Amino acid sequence: MEIVRTGPRKRFTGISRLYPMDTAIGTLRVIEDAEILVEGKHIVWVGKRGEGMGPIEGEERIEMSGVICTPGWIDAHTHLIWAGSRQNEFRARLQGQSYLDIARAGGGIMSTVRAVRQTDTSKLIAEGRHRLERMLGYGITTLEAKSGYGLSTDAEIKILRAIRALHEEGPQEISATFLGAHTVPTEYKHDRASYVSLVCEEMLPAVAEAGLADACDVFVEEGAFTLQEARRILQRGLDLGLQSRLHADQLSSGGGAELAAEMGALSADHLEEISPTGIQKMAEARVTACLIPGSTFCLRQHRYAPARAMIDAGMQIALATDLNPGTTCSESLPFLGTLACLQMGLLPEEVLYAVTVGAAHALGRADQIGRIAVGYQADLAFFAAPDIDYLFYHYAVLHTQSVYKHGRKVWPSSP
Ligand code: NIG
Ligand code: FE
Repeated sequence: MEIVRTGPRKRFTGISRLYPMDTAIGTLRVIEDAEILVEGKHIVWVGKRGEGMGPIEGEERIEMSGVICTPGWIDAHTHLIWAGSRQNEFRARLQGQSYLDIARAGGGIMSTVRAVRQTDTSKLIAEGRHRLERMLGYGITTLEAKSGYGLSTDAEIKILRAIRALHEEGPQEISATFLGAHTVPTEYKHDRASYVSLVCEEMLPAVAEAGLADACDVFVEEGAFTLQEARRILQRGLDLGLQSRLHADQLSSGGGAELAAEMGALSADHLEEISPTGIQKMAEARVTACLIPGSTFCLRQHRYAPARAMIDAGMQIALATDLNPGTTCSESLPFLGTLACLQMGLLPEEVLYAVTVGAAHALGRADQIGRIAVGYQADLAFFAAPDIDYLFYHYAVLHTQSVYKHGRKVWPSSP
């Protein structure tokens, strides 16, 4: 990997505990009293203080005693761009209605689609920017963001343009995913085949032509898309250079994990209802499982994805917020880490792996981000905590001390 040695040198020194994340899931290497040297946007040295290169003239020295350091966190599944609010559905669910009841009655995804279609790009960007600022405060320096609340060629492209604008603005890098197959929109309810054709023959070519997405996602579920429809859409995406992702086995076990393996997808996400065969096939095909405990929690489904069985089968796992207005409306990846510990039985080191190395795999970027190692991007999160156990034990509060992206301090923003 080429290290770009331009820009100022920074020395982060006296870090009480540093987690390089350079070992397998479940094992943890910790460097105490650590130091990181950054040149320009990349890490050029990491280790124990005093054991590496000495100071050079003009370098910036940043004293970090009393704080711990992890790679910048990566949120591998978000629906960052939407308009409106679905707090009314939160209340309706508290009063006994189910997610599917609400969707059938015209709410759910379609209610956000109506709001997005009426909102201009600049407002979508402004709302997305607020969410990104919150994410940055939790140490999230890279994320994935999906379209899927437009469901017409123009509205899907409007969302992807908003994602592109926010990626270019920074500080976070955003990997864009086209999710035109989120649900069949109302106007095609009685002609779903035409909608699938629209996705394949008009939307996907337009998105690929404009270079607006890295991947193509399909929501495979009763009431959304069938396996056959998903296979056609994902194959069309692959032919146009877009890698595959799936929302799979979320509300029912429908063979989505098996399809992800067949298509060589980058990730299959949710997987609460994954079958044993699905686990085996995804492990063999090296498809990353992206765990989303927030939707299970917020929909009060009780059944969380079988993370332990996945790890035991050798699957690569990521953990993501799924930030969206319907099923789980929170930017707090650390809180979901606590949920993953309590409800999925993960240990803090497994959670940290899933939001760094595992998530980098889900984005196909495990050679650039997700680790504190020479040649990797200098994306760093510092927390005022004694160790990583404390981050998940003392939950739902902010522990972040500072965040760096490409070697530059991006949180808190300068006074
Ligand atoms: O990831 N599963 C499908 N899509 C979203 C929810 C979308 C919505 O309800 O607005 C999810 O949970
Ligand atoms: Fe989602």
